Amino acid sequence: MSTFFYGGDYNPDQWSDEIVDLDLELFKKANINIVTLPVFSWAKFQSSDTEYHFEWFDKIINKITASGLNICMATSTAVQPAWMSHKYPEILPVDFEGRKRAFGGRVKFCPNSEIYREFASKLVTKLVERYGNNKNIKLWHVGNEYDNWCYCPKCQSEFRNWLKEKYSTLDELNRVWYTSFWGHTFYSWDEIVAPSGLSEMWNDNGRVRTNFQSISLDYARFMSDSILDCYKLEYKIIKDRFPQIPVTTNFMGFFKPLNYFKWAEFIDVISWDSYPGVGEPYFLTSMRHDLMRSLKKDRPFLLMEQTPSQTNWAPYNSCKRPGDLKLQSFQAIAHGSDSVMFFQLRRSVGACEKLHSGVIDHVGHGETRVFRECTELGDVLNKLGSQITGSIMENKTAIIFDWENWWALEYSSGPSTELFYLNEIEKYYNALHKTGAGIDFVTPDSDLSQYSLVVAPCLYLISNRNGRNIETYVKNGGKFVTSFMSGVVNETDLAYLGGYPGPLSNVLGIWVEEFDSLPKGKFNTGIPTSSFLDREYKCEMVFDIIHTLNAQSLAIYGNDYYKDLPVITKNIFGSGDAYYIGSSFEQDGIDSIIRKLSPGSDLNIEVFGNVETTLRKNSMDKLLFLLNHDECKNKIDLKNNQFQNLQTLEKHSGQLELNAKDVMVLRLLNE
Ligand code: GLA
Ligand code: ZN
Repeated sequence: MSTFFYGGDYNPDQWSDEIVDLDLELFKKANINIVTLPVFSWAKFQSSDTEYHFEWFDKIINKITASGLNICMATSTAVQPAWMSHKYPEILPVDFEGRKRAFGGRVKFCPNSEIYREFASKLVTKLVERYGNNKNIKLWHVGNEYDNWCYCPKCQSEFRNWLKEKYSTLDELNRVWYTSFWGHTFYSWDEIVAPSGLSEMWNDNGRVRTNFQSISLDYARFMSDSILDCYKLEYKIIKDRFPQIPVTTNFMGFFKPLNYFKWAEFIDVISWDSYPGVGEPYFLTSMRHDLMRSLKKDRPFLLMEQTPSQTNWAPYNSCKRPGDLKLQSFQAIAHGSDSVMFFQLRRSVGACEKLHSGVIDHVGHGETRVFRECTELGDVLNKLGSQITGSIMENKTAIIFDWENWWALEYSSGPSTELFYLNEIEKYYNALHKTGAGIDFVTPDSDLSQYSLVVAPCLYLISNRNGRNIETYVKNGGKFVTSFMSGVVNETDLAYLGGYPGPLSNVLGIWVEEFDSLPKGKFNTGIPTSSFLDREYKCEMVFDIIHTLNAQSLAIYGNDYYKDLPVITKNIFGSGDAYYIGSSFEQDGIDSIIRKLSPGSDLNIEVFGNVETTLRKNSMDKLLFLLNHDECKNKIDLKNNQFQNLQTLEKHSGQLELNAKDVMVLRLLNE
């Protein structure tokens, strides 16, 4: 795809012909070149088992096609019609508490319902047959924000089949689930029930807990796979007829219920919906973009949705301040997006999203601040977009992020309910991001050889095979950092015997005897015993009691019964080294550790204030993105590098100033 897409979700089925005509004019004015539709129109397409209605959509798609817009063709399968839910209640899911849902909301269907799958396949087949030849369709968009875990009897029986496939025998299942604990031995597959609030699990002030981690972990895998099967069904129907058109579904960043790394294999181009929280640090948005790009790191992703100004679903829905829209759009591009797309192009009249902004507001014309900002942005993207599309990032730093580890770590009972995987990931990402390093996310089985630094916070669950992968990486010269609670269990959540961190013990040269934990607000300290740590730092929550084997101690605990025992260690292994950070350090401490290890930016430039820099590359060019996240001007020192501004064509080197919230894209001229 060489067009840079600018546009977004449009729901013309909510509007009269006159309004659609007006909108098409306004889209042109705003430089919009793509619309996504029809995302939620199943009920309009189908009114009974056999009656389908496409004429109304023919009219709309013909208009859109005639106006020259590209189309991101959605399949409308995210909300099944009310009549269907009424006639075939098996489609409706059962929730974690065991309650059967009634029709309502969206993405509320059982992923294993055969009737749902059959009707969805029929609809998609008809859409593909009727519209697939339309030359303006550049992309297919399956479903919408898949998010439908279910605990119904059908899911339960499919879970049993999934388990049979995975473990073959009940003996094996009893072994890996450790059912000798609490007398849970299963003698027949039919005795196995879905782990939910009715069986092994409960909701503990927002944290979901379980008696049997291994069962809950398998259910998480099974649910992610079941929902993926719904997506794959539609994917295949589209690809069978139109193999050359890319297919996607919109992801949601760090979304716990679905293992997006596994999904990515069946997605031609990753797309996702970015809704930065009001007042939240900007590095978190960069982190989400980096995860999404990393799902397929050899190609750009698409920003499928962002809001032009405010949302409706947060506790406080602030409008984007002037300039925020451009800055956030370029933040996505800087991290690898080849599109800027909105939810929504026109603000709806009724229901919950009428107070969610759109490019075109209720007032209905283009004389609004938001429309003007969208138009200006469209104008800039019109000029720059084609010079950026297709360029990728080649980073030297990676963070291991593993959905299975996320599930397992947070299902673990102990040592602390304060332990959240993402908090630890965020701390290390934040520290790396401050050094200017470009960051990829990888899985424990990824090829790590391109990286000079790999950081794996709290890698609690790791298989022996993946342990060997990390060992090989370090042996060949890599730098590896992991933190407390790592190497505790294998892939079925059984603890490693013989000392933690299990398969990582060798490469780290340590063994961990205990994990102490203290309540929120209680701290220990890490005291330097080498120049590695520049001063004392506070640490909290979990405190690993570490014994060095081959490793050396770089810092020790300052208090408690493990005072003077190591809290940070380093092991030289082959041509590389491996570090263990035994507790959750305050951000400044992690910053200081990471500053020592990060390769930093690929370019020798210096930025001041909150200026973010990233590099995208293609076969010809290196593009430097400069994003000033501050409300004031900031300096940048480009040193001896020569650049050309993609927008103004001006040449730059040495000192440069960037206005408040402004962005610049520079092409490197010399190297
Ligand atoms: C999601 C959905 C959209 C819309 C927006 C509102 O991203 O995909 O349909 O509901 O949220 O912010
Ligand atoms: Zn179900």
